[in-house]
Amino acid sequence: MSKPLADRVAIVTGASRGIGKGVALRLAADGAKVVLASRKAPALQKVADEIKALGGEALVVPTHVGQPDQIKPLVDQTLAAFGRIDIVVNNAATNPIFGPIMFADLPAVQKIMEVNLYSAFLLSKACLETMQKAKYGKIINMASMAGLHPSPGMGAYSISKAALIMLTKVMAAEWGVFGIRANAVAPGLVKTDFSQVLWNTDDILKAALAKQAVAGLAEPQDIVGAAAWLAGPESDFVTGHVLVVDGGSSI
Ligand SMILES: NC(=O)c1ccc[n+]([C@@H]2O[C@H](COP(=O)([O-])OP(=O)(O)OC[C@H]3O[C@@H](n4cnc5c(N)ncnc54)[C@H](OP(=O)(O)O)[C@@H]3O)[C@@H](O)[C@H]2O)c1
Repeated sequence: MSKPLADRVAIVTGASRGIGKGVALRLAADGAKVVLASRKAPALQKVADEIKALGGEALVVPTHVGQPDQIKPLVDQTLAAFGRIDIVVNNAATNPIFGPIMFADLPAVQKIMEVNLYSAFLLSKACLETMQKAKYGKIINMASMAGLHPSPGMGAYSISKAALIMLTKVMAAEWGVFGIRANAVAPGLVKTDFSQVLWNTDDILKAALAKQAVAGLAEPQDIVGAAAWLAGPESDFVTGHVLVVDGGSSI
């Protein structure tokens, strides 16, 4: 059987660990050539080596997605290596502050917006021309349940993810005419470095698990299938959708 993403090229941001790494490995296993983008080259190289050991193709492009001048080089290097861009997974995110929004200062909020929101806007826009020419594209934005319900102590992060969900819907509405689909995945709590402060705090972990219908703390692998499905041909008629993957905690 041919692989569902054979001949496709995917950029995955935040691909060095956690959910992004899982998505990158899965897209490669599904046949895509995968461009791995995050800040630290050595960690990305390890993921690339894993992909190559499994017979896949990967390119490492160290990128700080919050810095607009680093977006074009990522796109240019992808096109130089592989000649096309079919799939963009805007997955990298940051949350440097915890606590009530009344104590949040502007530089921290700006940083959250730059990395979590503007990067997805700029990278998707930078891929638009090549996707338009191909009359095909899949944009997958890694949102969060925090973008649908305010997450206590993570107000600015919640705002950035809510805006990312609206960006997804706007791109879906405006770019569908070009053959581009844009969807979001909204995970609940997942065991990664990013959320360690949450799942490492007993009370928070207990409260999170108590809300779920499905038992257990999610691992990155529990999120990967949703992104892979949105990247693949079986979801071609799905756009502007927010796929919640939260073990039922929002029920
Ligand atoms: N874990 C959860 O509970 C949870 C829940 C809902 C949604 N999410 C979302 O899932 C996505 C992935 O998070 P994760 O939990 O997998 O986190 P993670 O394991 O900490 O991974 C974060 C990734 O983002 C990269 N990154 C961070 N800042 C970056 C920047 N400025 N430029 C480029 N890359 C950057 C990191 O690599 P470098 O440090 O090398 O740059 C790393 O590859 C995020 O969008 C997050 O909001 C997570």
